[in-house]
Amino acid sequence: MTDHNTQVLFNSSPDGMPTPDNFKIAEAPMPVPGDGEFLLKNLYLSLDPYQRMLMGGGWTYSPNLLQPGDLMVGRVLGEVVETNNPDFPVGTHVVGRLGWQTHVVSDGTNLDFVVNPKDGVPLSAYLGVCGSTGVTAWVGLKMTGQPKAGETVVVSAAAGSVGSCVGQLAKDMGCRAVGIAGGPDKCKLVEDEFGFDACIDYKAPDLAGQLKAAAPDGVDVYFDNVGGEILDTVMGQCNRLARIPICGVLSRYNDAGDAYGNKNMHLFFDKSLKMEGFVLSHHKEIWPQARAELEDMVADGRMKYRETVAQGIEAAPEAFIGMLQGNNLGKQLVKLG
Ligand SMILES: NC(=O)c1ccc[n+]([C@@H]2O[C@H](COP(=O)([O-])OP(=O)(O)OC[C@H]3O[C@@H](n4cnc5c(N)ncnc54)[C@H](OP(=O)(O)O)[C@@H]3O)[C@@H](O)[C@H]2O)c1
Repeated sequence: MTDHNTQVLFNSSPDGMPTPDNFKIAEAPMPVPGDGEFLLKNLYLSLDPYQRMLMGGGWTYSPNLLQPGDLMVGRVLGEVVETNNPDFPVGTHVVGRLGWQTHVVSDGTNLDFVVNPKDGVPLSAYLGVCGSTGVTAWVGLKMTGQPKAGETVVVSAAAGSVGSCVGQLAKDMGCRAVGIAGGPDKCKLVEDEFGFDACIDYKAPDLAGQLKAAAPDGVDVYFDNVGGEILDTVMGQCNRLARIPICGVLSRYNDAGDAYGNKNMHLFFDKSLKMEGFVLSHHKEIWPQARAELEDMVADGRMKYRETVAQGIEAAPEAFIGMLQGNNLGKQLVKLG
């Protein structure tokens, strides 16, 4: 085994889109587990848009921005390789927000969950479709969107990790699923592989006209991952009493300027719309149920997923930048082990 722990540290705040020099690769001594602790070798790292918000120089909800020299924040899937804790024998797999690094010591209290992989579900899926992004889709759609069979559900960033899952959950609930994604190739993937009824390209002209054709009966649930002009356009075609779960604001994360002003506020009373934000970490009680349902759907083929996997921790900064630029299909991961 290697004698050091490779880490990615935060180096500086980006001005707009991050660049590789906003990160720093560093070597730390291999951590040694004390009493009641165990050493994890991290197999996969999850790259997620919220990490951009922690870097500063853009829109953020977080009061706790990273400082130069801090370990980059992120979830990993790790395997216990050395242990002084009988509850975590060697070979146990766990998921936790333990940072962009190849190894880490834990006492088990800072974990999200222990992975007991279901047949047909690979370990990497527990960072995506059966992990935090799948559960985000489940919570936002089922608890906030509350679609009914026959309704039309629209979701943005539909070829990504959360979005691809939202549309498939909607289909499973008997809804019409319409995706919004960047470019014809992504739209084809969303229709052909993820099984949405339609997917429209926000980079092509006339998004409103495309939406009218794809959702001829109007929109009952808009699962919003991006905010901005796309939100305005979809609100314009929402039906009375439509629900709008606000999951994220991808169009803003690299933007330190004034926020885009929503132009359709009057529709809240015209159409009695309901917009409600949600944060995954506020719904921890429901994670096991959501994960179990998602595992079943993956195992029996009702839920398809894609992973874009970069190789090696040194590749994490470039892969992260690529994800923010839309280079990923489905979940963006880094394979570490
Ligand atoms: N509320 C919560 O608790 C919670 C938890 C997890 C994630 N989230 C949010 O869920 C959303 C999706 O996250 P994810 O992990 O599944 O990421 P993702 O969709 O897999 O990856 C990001 C995608 O965003 C799209 N994008 C980038 N800039 C955009 C822009 N200006 N306008 C429209 N689309 C843009 C790109 O796809 P295109 O090529 O299609 O542009 C890119 O592939 C994010 O807003 C994230 O912050 C929220």
